[in-house]
Amino acid sequence: MEVKTSLLDNMIGVGDMVLLEPLSEDSFIENLRKRFDHNEIYTYIGSVVISMNPYRSLPIFTPEKVEEYRNRNFYELSPHIYALADEAYRSLRDQDKDQCILITGESGAGKTEASKLVMSYVAAVCGKGQEVNKVKEQLLQSNPVLEAFGNAKTVRNDNSSRFGKYMDIEFDFKGDPLGGVISNYLLEKSRVVKQPRGERNFHIFYQLLSGASDDTLKKLKLDRDYSKYNYLSLDSAVVNGLDDAANFRTVKNAMQIVGFMEDEVQSVLELVAAVLKLGDIEFKPESRCNGSDESRIKDKNDLKEMCELLGIEQSVLERAFSYRTVEARLEKVSTTLNVAQAYYARDALAKNLYSRLFSWLVTRINESIKAQTKARHKVMGVLDIYGFEIFEDNSFEQFIINYCNEKLQQIFIELTLREEQEEYVREGIEWTNIEYFNNAIICDLIENHQNGILAMLDEECLRPGTVTDETFLDKLNTICAEHQHFESRLSKNSKFLTDHSLPHNCFRIQHYAGKVLYRVEGFVDKNNDLLYRDLSQAMYKANHSLIKQLFPEGNPGKVNLKRPPTAGFQFRASVGTLMKNLQTKNPNYIRCIKPNDKKASHIFTDSLVCHQVRYLGLMENVRVRRAGYAFRQAYEPCLERYKMLCKRTWPHWRGPAREGVEVLMADLPVPAEEFSFGRSKIFIRNPRTLFFLEERRRQCLQDLATLIQKIYRGWKCRSHFLLLKKSQIVVAAWYRRYAQEKKYQKIKSATTVVQSYTRGWQARKLLRELKYQKRCEEAVTTISAFWHGTQARMELRRLKQEARNKHAVTVIWAYWQGTKVRREYRKFFRANAGKKIYDFTIQRIMQKYFLGLKSTMPSMSPIDKSWPARPYRFLDGVHRELPRIFHLWRCKKYRSQFTEEKKAVYEEKLEASEIFKDKKALYPSSVSQPFKGDYLEISTNPKYQKLNSAVDEKVLLADVVNKINRANGKGTARIFLLTKKSVVLADQKTGQVKASVPLPDLASVSVSTQSDGFFALRLKEGSASAVKGDFLLSSEHLIEIITKLHRTGATAADSKQLNVDISDEFLVQFKHDKVCVKFIQGAPKNGNSVSCKRKNNRLLEVSVPTTA
Ligand SMILES: Nc1ncnc2c1ncn2[C@@H]1O[C@H](COP(=O)(O)OP(=O)(O)OP(=O)(O)O)[C@@H](O)[C@H]1O
Ligand SMILES: [Mg+2]
Repeated sequence: MEVKTSLLDNMIGVGDMVLLEPLSEDSFIENLRKRFDHNEIYTYIGSVVISMNPYRSLPIFTPEKVEEYRNRNFYELSPHIYALADEAYRSLRDQDKDQCILITGESGAGKTEASKLVMSYVAAVCGKGQEVNKVKEQLLQSNPVLEAFGNAKTVRNDNSSRFGKYMDIEFDFKGDPLGGVISNYLLEKSRVVKQPRGERNFHIFYQLLSGASDDTLKKLKLDRDYSKYNYLSLDSAVVNGLDDAANFRTVKNAMQIVGFMEDEVQSVLELVAAVLKLGDIEFKPESRCNGSDESRIKDKNDLKEMCELLGIEQSVLERAFSYRTVEARLEKVSTTLNVAQAYYARDALAKNLYSRLFSWLVTRINESIKAQTKARHKVMGVLDIYGFEIFEDNSFEQFIINYCNEKLQQIFIELTLREEQEEYVREGIEWTNIEYFNNAIICDLIENHQNGILAMLDEECLRPGTVTDETFLDKLNTICAEHQHFESRLSKNSKFLTDHSLPHNCFRIQHYAGKVLYRVEGFVDKNNDLLYRDLSQAMYKANHSLIKQLFPEGNPGKVNLKRPPTAGFQFRASVGTLMKNLQTKNPNYIRCIKPNDKKASHIFTDSLVCHQVRYLGLMENVRVRRAGYAFRQAYEPCLERYKMLCKRTWPHWRGPAREGVEVLMADLPVPAEEFSFGRSKIFIRNPRTLFFLEERRRQCLQDLATLIQKIYRGWKCRSHFLLLKKSQIVVAAWYRRYAQEKKYQKIKSATTVVQSYTRGWQARKLLRELKYQKRCEEAVTTISAFWHGTQARMELRRLKQEARNKHAVTVIWAYWQGTKVRREYRKFFRANAGKKIYDFTIQRIMQKYFLGLKSTMPSMSPIDKSWPARPYRFLDGVHRELPRIFHLWRCKKYRSQFTEEKKAVYEEKLEASEIFKDKKALYPSSVSQPFKGDYLEISTNPKYQKLNSAVDEKVLLADVVNKINRANGKGTARIFLLTKKSVVLADQKTGQVKASVPLPDLASVSVSTQSDGFFALRLKEGSASAVKGDFLLSSEHLIEIITKLHRTGATAADSKQLNVDISDEFLVQFKHDKVCVKFIQGAPKNGNSVSCKRKNNRLLEVSVPTTA
């Protein structure tokens, strides 16, 4: 790809008019034409961009082009609007200078397109991100919405802006867009009700009718047919190359992106529809009795539909079209409207409705695109105002539009021409003055506060009495007659008396861009911009939130009798504010030129272009640029920027900045005439010199960057190297250590291996030797064993032989001896042998019997009755005696183990056996039960502590017994205590002693023969205890109680013994009666319990169940 470094490369004609040689109007136009023919639509005059409208799309606005121009020097590439946009954006971002882009040119010259190009370029190059992209999108999408409502087809331009627009785009410090503010200037609202021939109404009407769905149209009560609507001119309703339906979709989409709510869009469309409907309301005259005409609505259907759309009561609006109420202080006068007035009122309402809707749209868009942060921001303003226009029939709107263009031209002149020249003078730079046309005089003609046209129009509007457009013209004729830019047939200036091109009801102004003939008709009305209060009140009453908002003055609660400021006044004020605003910013100019009047591409009409070049003052602009200096900069920033180009100023210059710059420039190969030193600035004549400086600076910066890079890289490499070196030493040390360790471990393991092999080898050798030795020893042993064995066997054989021989000798000797003895004792043998053998045999048998008995002895248990069987009958006596002796011995042994206590126990048991054995059936079951004595643990149990203390003696027996009641035979539990001296009966629960019987008072004890526990303590007659009578008791430990009583009683009574009567029938003395207690054997009832029943006074029967 070809890389351009200067706009001079491959230049078609001259890219910058400053370089044009020779400079003349013809060569200027020729240069423009040449470039235009080669599709070079942009040409510079210094930093001003001239833009020719190509009337076709050129492939120079692609994303690639954006990238090409991005961050490039202004003079580096061929002229382009992008270069200007880039320059403005960069100086905004990098130098913190607010910018404004002023786009001027006549209608159709391409201002709106240029403004969109600038915005799209800035949007493309500034920051990205979700939030930023949303802001960008909203800013960009505000254009289609405003164009739809504010642009219309005119004879000059199919998309002519019918309002002025100034948009401030706000950026943060990084250059990212934050939001924006749009200001709109006077919409040409007369277009709503009437359009000149060949023109149409605002785009939105056509877009709505052709683009909206059937459903939407039905809702809006509209018909797709344009011809149904009076406000839509028919002759040019369809514009070539303009797809209204598609544009409608674009607009709706744009509204959605900008942030309009669904219901807001609907309300807006309802208003648009209402305007269309309003145009169709027609009036007819109706004569009144006083002879005057009164207007009546012809067909109320449209009115009805419109009222339905806007939620207005039909009668209210109908009345507002018929009457006009004038309020003055306390008075209220109502007059009827005639047909003309009704039409006027209708159109005024339509215009107001539409223009207020438009202003609301701008406000609403502003709400959406408003910057969200309050942080300080930089601003880039883009001004796209309606272009200067001359129509056949020019009215108030054109007057205003052209005034605005005058002001813009003024500011251009101010800043580019006058300011520049003044600066040269101020800076003391040698300078020959350049003549140029200053349009301040025209501005003054229009806006002068005392006798300016606008001031006079206001004066006329506010004046009491009859005011008409003619009176206004008269006034102009008198006051402005002498002004050299004002022309009127009836002015005092007789020059124009015979000028037939100047009709009577017109005046002409020589604008900077040409003469414009204004028809005064409507000037007063349009300036007044009055809407009958009845109408605004009717609108306020609407049940439609948007309409209500648009007509706040209709609020009856806030009636304002003051006249609202006139349209002209408002416009002048807002233009004044705009101019002030623009003057605070760094201007960037785009001068748009229209190549032909046919809206056609490839046609370059010299005269038309020449006219524009002239009135735009482009020639003067070039002359000033050429005579002057292309670039200027204060010394400090200049020195700061270029000080690296000279060794003496780099890196620091200690002296004053100016001297520094002088030294710097002297050092550079730049001819002296190329620059001049002003008081505070250096002026550089040629852009190329500047570019040369920039180029040198860029190279120097590159060199410096290289130097910094070199030093940095050197430092980085060195520190890296040192680090590597240090690391290498550490690594080497560690590695060496590691290697040595490895080597050592290897040697060590090798040594171990060698050692183990050697040791193994030695061990094996030793083992072999030892094995050999062992084998030798074994062999020796074996041999010697065999040898010894042989020897032993031989010896054994010899000994055996010897023993056999000896035995044989002994046997032989014994036989011989026997023979000898028998022979010798034969004579004694028969007499004693029998007895001796018998004794011997008996002795042997006894011996054997006793030895055998030793091992078959029975156990040591005295009850073991076993005894080994008798072997021989002759031992019968021994056999009988021996067990007895053994048993006695065994019992003695057994007894000898007994302690005294045990002995006493056994004695008791023995006594029990003596008393009861074979006498009482209960006895056998008691044998195995030990006599415990104290069953209640009376001495230790705290319960019986009291009882224990009541008894002095040692308790021999303590048990619970049943005391039998003689009355019913039932038992009562009593504690039975036996001490050495007495028997005590006590209450079981309380432990209270019930009876204490000294043992000597006991006569006898009676028990039955059966297995019951009944016993009777029979007392000696006459004893102290006998008073209460005998005791009949029963106990579970009967045997023990009686035995103990028997033993103790005997001791106590010093008698031999206490009698124990065992019989099944005995008498018991209860107090005075004697009762017989009889024991019978009964069938077991209620288990095995013994039952005692009183049979009669003298008999108690105890039934004892038979035990199986
Ligand atoms: N750079 C361009 N490339 C292609 N066509 C262009 C360009 N600039 C303008 N045009 C064409 O010229 C027409 C008029 O341009 P534009 O609407 O920008 O004029 P204007 O100066 O804003 O006029 P007005 O003052 O009436 O608003 C556009 O609709 C478009 O067809
Ligand atoms: Mg425009």
